[in-house]
Amino acid sequence: MSYFDDHFDASQSGFATIAIHSHQKPDPTTGAVIQPIYQTSTFAQETVLEAGEFDYTRCGNPNMNALEGVLADLEGGVRGFAFSSGLGALTTLTTALFKPGDHIVSCSDVYGGSFGVFDKILRKYDVQTDFVDFRDMAALEAALTDKTKALHVETPTNPNLKLIDIAAVAKLAKANGLLTIVDNTFATPCLQRPFELGADIVWHSTTKYIGGHSDVVGGAIIIKDKRYEEVLFMHQKLIGANPDPFACWLALRGLKTLPIRMNAHQQNAMAVAEFLKTHPAVDQVIYPGLPEHPDHELAKRQMNGFGGMVTLTIKGGPSEVVKVTQALKLFTVAVSLGGVESLVCYPYKMTHGSMPDDFKLKTGILPNMLRLSVGIEDIDDLKRDLKQALDVVVGATV
Ligand SMILES: Cc1ncc(COP(=O)(O)O)c(C=O)c1O
Repeated sequence: MSYFDDHFDASQSGFATIAIHSHQKPDPTTGAVIQPIYQTSTFAQETVLEAGEFDYTRCGNPNMNALEGVLADLEGGVRGFAFSSGLGALTTLTTALFKPGDHIVSCSDVYGGSFGVFDKILRKYDVQTDFVDFRDMAALEAALTDKTKALHVETPTNPNLKLIDIAAVAKLAKANGLLTIVDNTFATPCLQRPFELGADIVWHSTTKYIGGHSDVVGGAIIIKDKRYEEVLFMHQKLIGANPDPFACWLALRGLKTLPIRMNAHQQNAMAVAEFLKTHPAVDQVIYPGLPEHPDHELAKRQMNGFGGMVTLTIKGGPSEVVKVTQALKLFTVAVSLGGVESLVCYPYKMTHGSMPDDFKLKTGILPNMLRLSVGIEDIDDLKRDLKQALDVVVGATV
């Protein structure tokens, strides 16, 4: 009998119910309503000849397997794999699936660290990646070679919040025998369902909205086809980028409130975007929920909401950026996103700082751009904070 022998049928349940109940029944030994943290590296065996369901935490642990199970159910996949970070997930995924000589095409404005995995790590092992604007399907098609094995999509993109048509990319991938891999970190399964749009593999930085409280780093891969289970499980165990039990426990706790948090994030993000449009120090506001966003129609079709991230450019350059960010009181200057508290980041120097400058400029990561992770504080307080900070540079820029 498995630890998770189950009490709960995800196929008959709604998203919020799955987030709270899937793989999270009361502890079988004590009745604790919340699964205890199994802070153990190893598990006693009945005999030397057979291990139980768990033997060593790098290969599985009740907290890790609970997280993997609920994430698989939330994405509508068949199996989840948890990792110690999003990049741990991406590195394990790409190492497991690709071999020297293979070629990947990725959308161009991916998270800087993901760019680094493709550009610095995989290239060393002769797995080549080309970066293309996936909104240009002709350019994407032209980038395919006879060595191409997969298309990698991040949508909405970071930090430009461009939308990529997952269904169209997946259709092209299928027609050419390629895998479609989606980084679903920004949207979460709450707002975007890549498998329903034809994707094969979804991965996440669970550090962001899934954890939701800026207190844990983690990652995940979810597959829709059992065919990849064995190879991924082997690489998960042998690469060893797996999460510790407490990290899984924190991610599980965060997950329970994902739907209500996402709702609050996006309500605030919409209000912040509308407010920013009215401020004279702001040049451009980028939010998929705004009707003037070039991908607004696609966002409406592909997502169940527009998310909690807002990007803006301000009038001026790096010195105005520094002034505004120093003046903010509620928006903390920090990388990362998706926590309940609001953060502001300067992608040009922070999250995407390690990308070559010409690549940044080509993909629209500009020296006057700020990315807001809009938290779930009271909206009037957030607007007031943004106003007083942007007011600091009005005289200088208008
Ligand atoms: C969209 C996206 N994907 C992946 C990552 C990497 O995740 P982690 O920092 O958990 O390794 C990040 C981190 O910021 C991200 O924003």
